[in-house]
Amino acid sequence: MAKRLCLVTGASSGIGAALAREYAKRNWDLALVARRGDRLEALAKELKDAHGTQSLIIVADLADPKGPETVVKAVEKAGRHVDGLVNNAGYGLPGTYVSTSWAQQSYFIQLMLTSYAELVHRLLPGMVERGYGRIINVSSLSAFPPGAKGHTLYAAVKAALIKFSQSLHLETEGSGVHVTALCPGFTYSEFHDVNETRHMVSKLPKRWWRTAEAVAHDGYWAAETNVPVRVSGNWNKFIAAMFLILPMPLGIAWMRRSTRGIRSTEPPKQGPVTAPAAAAAKPKPAAPVKTGAASKTAAAKKPAARKAPAKKPAAKKPAPATPAKTGAASKTAAAKKPAAKKPAAKKAPARKPAARKARPQTPPAGTG
Ligand SMILES: NC(=O)c1ccc[n+]([C@@H]2O[C@H](COP(=O)([O-])OP(=O)(O)OC[C@H]3O[C@@H](n4cnc5c(N)ncnc54)[C@H](OP(=O)(O)O)[C@@H]3O)[C@@H](O)[C@H]2O)c1
Repeated sequence: MAKRLCLVTGASSGIGAALAREYAKRNWDLALVARRGDRLEALAKELKDAHGTQSLIIVADLADPKGPETVVKAVEKAGRHVDGLVNNAGYGLPGTYVSTSWAQQSYFIQLMLTSYAELVHRLLPGMVERGYGRIINVSSLSAFPPGAKGHTLYAAVKAALIKFSQSLHLETEGSGVHVTALCPGFTYSEFHDVNETRHMVSKLPKRWWRTAEAVAHDGYWAAETNVPVRVSGNWNKFIAAMFLILPMPLGIAWMRRSTRGIRSTEPPKQGPVTAPAAAAAKPKPAAPVKTGAASKTAAAKKPAARKAPAKKPAAKKPAPATPAKTGAASKTAAAKKPAAKKPAAKKAPARKPAARKARPQTPPAGTG
C-alpha cells in the first residue's frame, strides 16, 4: 500500500526541513517545496537512504500567485494525493511599513498568508472526502504579543494564521482531518539571517531558543493529537500565556522597549529580502516533479533568480543558527559554499548556521 504523502513548503531549510524529516521518520512520503531545488534534492536523498522515503521535488516560488496551483498540479501529475499539508514557507521582512515598498509587502502577504490559505482551500476537500488529513500552519510566538516596530505585517499574518487554523479546526471536527497552528519562538534556522537580525537576536539568552527539530517534533504530535494551537517549548508557552492576560497598554509598552532587540526597523539591506524573482525573470514554468531523486530542472533553469545579492553579504555573515547537524541538506550546501563569499565576517558565534546560499531577491525597494 502506498504511504501517505505530506506536502511540506519551505522544506529547504530550518523548521520545514525538520518537519519533513519528522514525517519521513514516521513512514510518510513527501512532496518537498521551496525555491532552492538543490537543497530539496539533498534532503530527498537523505530521507530515501534513511527511511526509503519517496519525495516529489517541487521547485516553486509560493509568492508567485500561481505558485500554489502549480504545486498542487505537480502532485496530481505524479499520481499522488496529499494527506498532510505543512504550510511553513516564510521569512521576515525587516523595516518599518513606510521604509519598504508595496511590492515587498504584497509579496510578503502573498507568501505568508495567501499561499497558505490557497493550499488549504485546494487540498482540504480531498482530505475531508477521504476522511483523513493533517494540516499544520506554521504561525509564531509573535502572534501573541502586540505587533512590533519593524517587520510590520509579520505578527499580523501570524495572528491571522492562528484564527484561520482555529476556524478550520472547528469546521473539520469529526471529519478525520486535524488542523493545528504551530507557534515556534526563536528557533535556530536561517530565518534571522534572511531577515537581517542575526546580530540582534544572537544576544538573547539561550532559554529563548529551540532547535528546529524540537519544534518539528512538537508540531507533528500536536497535529496527530488534534491540538488547534501549539506553542512550542515551555518558555514560549509562558510568554504566550503572559500576553494573553497582560493588559494591552502594558503589552504595547513591553513591545516598545523590546522591539529594539529583536526586530529591525531598517529596510532590507540585501536589496529586499526574498523575492518575486518572477518579476525580474520571466514567469516560472510548471514546477518540475521527480520522485525520489530530484530534478535539476527549475533550479537549474532559473539561475537569474538565484543570484547572489547585489550588495555584498559579507557583513551579514551569520551568527548562530542551525545546530551543527541538520543533516545532509545543510551539509551539502555547506560543502558547496563558495570560498569567496566568506571572511569579512565578524566573530563567529557559538551556533553556526548551515551555510546559506543566496536566495532570490526582491526587486529594489520602490519597484513594482
Ligand atoms: N526561526 C524562527 O525563529 C521562527 C520563529 C517563529 C516562526 N517561524 C516561522 O517558521 C517558518 C519557517 O522558518 P524557518 O525558521 O525554518 O526559516 P528558514 O530556515 O529561513 O526557512 C524558510 C523556508 O521558507 C522557504 N521560502 C521562503 N520564501 C519562499 C518562497 N517565496 N517560495 C517558496 N518557499 C519559500 C525557504 O526556501 P527557499 O529559500 O529555498 O525558497 C526555506 O525553506 C516561517 O513561516 C517562519 O515565519 C520561524
